[in-house]
Amino acid sequence: MTRRTKPSTRSASESAKSNDSPQRARDSAQRIIVGITGASGAIYGIRLLEALRAMGIETHLVLTRAAEMTIAYETSHTAKSVRALASKTYPLGDVGAAIASGSFRTLGMIIAPCSMKTLSEIAYSLSGNLLTRAADVVLKERRKLVVMPRETPLHLGHIRAMAAATEIGAIIAPPMPGFYAKPKSLDDMIDHSIGRALDLFNLDTGKVHRWSGKPPAD
Ligand SMILES: Cc1cc2nc3c(=O)[nH]c(=O)nc-3n(C[C@H](O)[C@H](O)[C@H](O)COP(=O)(O)O)c2cc1C
Repeated sequence: MTRRTKPSTRSASESAKSNDSPQRARDSAQRIIVGITGASGAIYGIRLLEALRAMGIETHLVLTRAAEMTIAYETSHTAKSVRALASKTYPLGDVGAAIASGSFRTLGMIIAPCSMKTLSEIAYSLSGNLLTRAADVVLKERRKLVVMPRETPLHLGHIRAMAAATEIGAIIAPPMPGFYAKPKSLDDMIDHSIGRALDLFNLDTGKVHRWSGKPPAD
């Protein structure tokens, strides 16, 4: 017997609580896992969480211990205030969390910024903590893994790790500013990099200057 869904008069939030509603099916796919590691540029992860929050996308956050250090060194945030930007956060050691399973549906994962250590672990499928396990799950489920590595200069080991991660499906998207957009501030550059990373999920922050064949007027 085919089950038919009756037209619903319930609100979206009521529907989201129901197990069998089409609304719930759509909502569960509007989730992104965010990883922030201890590479320089914690602000990229913070701005990413803010952008996803503004777009109404559910975020599932894992911070590494080194990320807690860079957040403190580089920004006016605390690990606590960064966690408060996410819909849900997990301890790094909780490899039994929902995001450690492929049955938990997500659009994929962004790691911003990504250290060479975490990049290398992902490239060789070492799933020793929840961040690298979640990344490995995203890859095995053939979902989108966007990695924003930060290091300079790079030795061949770093470059090989990027190639290996690419071969298993990751997208390497270093946060490199596009000067064609004539950025006027650091904020403009950060927003551009985050916006281009979210473009890979077909999510538009509205803050990317899109090239139309000529540079913007000053
Ligand atoms: C202030 C600061 C800046 C750092 N910048 C980088 C960086 O740009 N790239 C990188 O790969 N590691 C960087 N590191 C080193 C990483 O934090 C370190 O390798 C750490 O073990 C990474 O662990 P995680 O991947 O679990 O966060 C930095 C560390 C500190 C304290």
